Amino acid sequence: MTYKPLNLTPELHEYLLAHSTPPDPIIADLIAETRQNLPEAAGMQVAPEQAAFLKMLATVTGAKRAVEIGTFTGLSALAIARGLGADGRLNCYDISTEFTDIARRYWARAGVDDRIELRIGPAADSIRDLPEDEHLDLVFIDADKENYTNYWNALLPRVRKGGLVLVDNVLWSGRVLDPQNDRDRGVADFNAAAVGDPRVELVIVPIGDGITMARKK
Ligand SMILES: C[S@@+](CC[C@H](N)C(=O)[O-])C[C@H]1O[C@@H](n2cnc3c(N)ncnc32)[C@H](O)[C@@H]1O
Repeated sequence: MTYKPLNLTPELHEYLLAHSTPPDPIIADLIAETRQNLPEAAGMQVAPEQAAFLKMLATVTGAKRAVEIGTFTGLSALAIARGLGADGRLNCYDISTEFTDIARRYWARAGVDDRIELRIGPAADSIRDLPEDEHLDLVFIDADKENYTNYWNALLPRVRKGGLVLVDNVLWSGRVLDPQNDRDRGVADFNAAAVGDPRVELVIVPIGDGITMARKK
């Protein structure tokens, strides 16, 4: 029998949300402020269920040292930082102070600001300044689709064996099936490179716009 994938209708998506632990008031406010103040850009924010998933992964893997590429208004970073716990450390990279000023406010409100270090500038430059040894437990890549493969290649050697690399938007609203522009090709080429990379085993989790979850062997 051929496996029939789930068709996640809007009603079923609502049901999924209603039967998952709801966002706390801080996350609910961050989502609302992002949608109200940045309506054009708000679609960049990870979905609430993705945020919950990121926190869950950081928690169950016992991750302590993490890097995020693409922070925006800070939802995914807030989730990861909570999962890392009080003795965790998250390095966040983004090019926008407008977006990340909002993030800083919410991290402070959540009491996780002391475990997050935000650096403004192209992520490729910031990655270069990271130690080169296998010290990272968790990486989340969510910016600049054309450079997904470059970020992967720069960060994977810095991930410890058994560590996780998570990559957002890997289904790219279906455009990976018929790439039309550089961003589409960036995601599709990354997916092809990642699945053929002998350093990892990976699964694409169809949550939000699709998250690659890769474990370094
Ligand atoms: C999809 S959003 C990130 C969403 C975020 N993870 C969240 O949970 O809300 C992408 C972010 O990447 C940033 N960005 C774009 N190009 C970048 C680059 N070359 N280096 C670092 N950040 C970049 C943008 O400013 C934007 O805030």
